[in-house]
Amino acid sequence: MKQIPVESTEFRAALLAWFKRDGRKLPWRETADPYRILVSELMLQQTLVTTVVSYYQRWLERFPTIRDLANADETEVLLAWQGLGYYNRARNLHRCAKVIVAELKEAFPSSVDALIQLPGIGRYTAGAIVSFAFDRPAPIVDGNIARAMSRLLDLQEPVDQPPGREIIWDLASRYVQSANPRLLNSALMELGAVVCLPRKPLCALCPVRSFCRTTDPESLPRKNGRPKIERKSEFHFFAVKDGRVLLQQNPGKRWQGLWTLPALPANSKSAPSNDAPAPSLSLSYPITRFMVHLNVFLSEPPASVRAGQAWHRLEALDALPMPSPHRRAVQMALQRSWGI
Ligand code: ADE
Repeated sequence: MKQIPVESTEFRAALLAWFKRDGRKLPWRETADPYRILVSELMLQQTLVTTVVSYYQRWLERFPTIRDLANADETEVLLAWQGLGYYNRARNLHRCAKVIVAELKEAFPSSVDALIQLPGIGRYTAGAIVSFAFDRPAPIVDGNIARAMSRLLDLQEPVDQPPGREIIWDLASRYVQSANPRLLNSALMELGAVVCLPRKPLCALCPVRSFCRTTDPESLPRKNGRPKIERKSEFHFFAVKDGRVLLQQNPGKRWQGLWTLPALPANSKSAPSNDAPAPSLSLSYPITRFMVHLNVFLSEPPASVRAGQAWHRLEALDALPMPSPHRRAVQMALQRSWGI
């Protein structure tokens, strides 16, 4: 196959020169510690860079080394993650730390094949660790890179389907086979994040515009389409007794181990009919492809407490891991009840 633009020395040189001059100074770009890279990449999976910076710094103050994390208990880990959502990332990070400390004697795996054996680590995260921490040529493809690549090569194949995805991974792999893989991957990701923007790409400012094959960047990348956002309703109650609020520790997958307002018993969970009382408060939050409508009823304390439920002192709530929508609902309910 003839040489593609992202494989040329001139392309890499132009991109690196721009990145060294204009790239953002982000804390995880200042380290080659694989543990720190792992923490940053898991945080960045579903969360914006600007939000992650402060969480990342706090996390490393609390768990400075992989051993500190491996030795922590899950409640502490969930509490440090609180606000980032998608808590499976935190549980997987904790499990990775335990495996690396206990089974691998703290020898952090440095190949893609070894890393993808670890919980919650896929092709992207493995490539990020190998290139950012070990400075070895492993490809990475995230949304930013897929967009920049598809425009540079004027790729008409949908990038959210297996053939298009494989083409992008192959391009990313050829691109990174060179000196400075850490800088190369960071620079390409940065290009997608700050110049090759989804809707209004800043082509006039692009350091590699002379290599770019598309004439219609806004039409790329092609996608076959996302699943529609579905609405979902959840029904919970808020009860207080002697300065304590009744909470439920979640057994389910999504919020396992986190405390939420208790769910209403099954027979009262259906969407409110005409004669049912309106919820005392409601709020909405997005999760994966759902928009969840959380309905909360202020209620009298129940006579008995179910399995997994417990009364918690109001002053102790800050120390409990709670998903943000439920913490917000508790604050709203307290305000509603007592103006707290
Ligand atoms: N998004 C995911 N990983 C990132 C990184 N290492 N730097 C900036 N943004 C990112």
